[in-house]
Amino acid sequence: MLAITGIGTLVTNDASLERGKLGLVKDAALVVGDDNKIAWTGESINLPREFANNAIHVGGRAIIPGFVDSHTHLVFGGDRATEFEARMSGKTYTAGGIRTTMAATRASTNDVLVANARRLASEALHTGTTTLETKSGYGLSVLDETRSLQVATSITSETTFLGAHVVPPESTIDEYVNLVCGEMLTQCAPNAKWIDVFCDHGAFDVDHAQAILSAGAHAGLGLRIHANQLQHGGGVQLGVEMGVASCDHCTHLSDADVSALADTKGKTVATLLPTAELCTRAKFPDARRLLDAGVTVALASDCNPGSSYTTSMPLVISLAVLNMNMTCDEALWSATAGGAAALRRTDIGALHVGAQADFALLNSPSHIHLAYRPGVKLVDAVVRQGKCVAGSLA
Ligand code: NIG
Ligand code: FE
Repeated sequence: MLAITGIGTLVTNDASLERGKLGLVKDAALVVGDDNKIAWTGESINLPREFANNAIHVGGRAIIPGFVDSHTHLVFGGDRATEFEARMSGKTYTAGGIRTTMAATRASTNDVLVANARRLASEALHTGTTTLETKSGYGLSVLDETRSLQVATSITSETTFLGAHVVPPESTIDEYVNLVCGEMLTQCAPNAKWIDVFCDHGAFDVDHAQAILSAGAHAGLGLRIHANQLQHGGGVQLGVEMGVASCDHCTHLSDADVSALADTKGKTVATLLPTAELCTRAKFPDARRLLDAGVTVALASDCNPGSSYTTSMPLVISLAVLNMNMTCDEALWSATAGGAAALRRTDIGALHVGAQADFALLNSPSHIHLAYRPGVKLVDAVVRQGKCVAGSLA
């Protein structure tokens, strides 16, 4: 049992409290039960006496649900600092850089890949991320995709097979799509919950993406898609037609794409990845356009060595508010409950009674500071499944 009192602002994301979408409670307390789930939330003044005696007082700081980062690529070797430097001198980002990381990943031992993925997962945890999804996609051979997914399972249960990231240099596109849909999928599916395709310029077209997602669905995997990042195309429409959990990037959207996403009524989430726009010097998508149309929006880091080498969800929230027309409340919801929706989870991303006790203690009186103080370390402690796993609650 863990009881916390003196919480300046508690964000529960519990709409049933009738305190807005964030379910905000001021001067709050919360209790975690012995099952490591949320047992009670409310105003400190109403904390039942049996919990009050051993409660930790956090002096008016805010508590928020742990971030759910529903889109990362943490299994890779090497880095692309040289490519980044060239881009900052005027070169354009293209999908082709993925092959540089493919070569470094193929040359890395499993131990090196595990150590790198764990380092990044730990970095994410210390900035408040309590659940993350991660993908294969830098192996691009049966052997290297299979071991990439084995590595992924060592850091999360939300694993995604992204054999269809780009075509490796040794194959034609048709040969490679057959391999992805055949032997590679067979070998990778046991360690994957999801399948994803990079449907964009320089990667896979809509027909190939449809074939790959259909094969993944047939193998029992959930569907997600990288769509409309580098240019406008049919990826979002395909994702909606196939009922994917999330269309990710959504940088270039037509009105028809926005309506198609809205018509799913939240079944297909639009996941925006503003640090990818930041690090590729691309135009930010307008989250307001999606939100005003009724689309469910998630925010994620896209952590990868090419387009977005950051694990920081607080930075993602800052950018969403400062550059994508989201309110502070919307951005926090999208980085927590929105990420959970993109993974079709209801047990995380919120602090309602019965939810997994995953939360972050901030060094500020409210969640507004996440956007208001860009780049500042604001996470004092992280609790995952009821245990303090980073920092200190004291
Ligand atoms: O989500 N868009 C495709 N994949 C990654 C980038 C991969 C890379 O450049 O290494 C992304 O941005
Ligand atoms: Fe990505």
